[in-house]
Amino acid sequence: MSDEHPGLRKRLEQEARRVASQHRQLDELLGLVAESLSAGERGPAARAFDRFADALLAHFELEDQVYFPAVNGFQSSLVAELESLSDEHVRFRGDLARLRRSFAASPLSDCMKALERFLVDLAAHEGREERVMRSVGNPGPGDEAESAKRDDSEEPGCPR
Ligand SMILES: [Fe+2]
Ligand SMILES: [Fe+2]
Repeated sequence: MSDEHPGLRKRLEQEARRVASQHRQLDELLGLVAESLSAGERGPAARAFDRFADALLAHFELEDQVYFPAVNGFQSSLVAELESLSDEHVRFRGDLARLRRSFAASPLSDCMKALERFLVDLAAHEGREERVMRSVGNPGPGDEAESAKRDDSEEPGCPR
């Protein structure tokens, strides 16, 4: 990554930490939903799911409106990856709406199965985002080759 914009680089590193921290908070909220479901408590499970869903929707907004545009402005080679992540947000929003309806009326065992599928998909999504963040802010040992590839293809001084 170029050091021509140290202020922007610092901001991106802060945003990356913020997003990763929110992922951990979301995982904790999802854990509370699973606990209530396992205990067979529909009301607490539905309320815990509402808290989780609201937090996740706010998180998607932060990524779509603030974080992804900032990354794209700094490193335009990531545009396809960022668009793909935003497309997944659209799919997740639909999944959340369906899950909210399930928590109101479906058997709790069905809710648990649907929640488990959602959890697997969300974990994969979060993993991709955190890999993108590392490649922008702080390349790790496995990211050097990708970083070097990007540096070769970037046009210095022409961020989009
Ligand atoms: Fe996301
Ligand atoms: Fe995220």
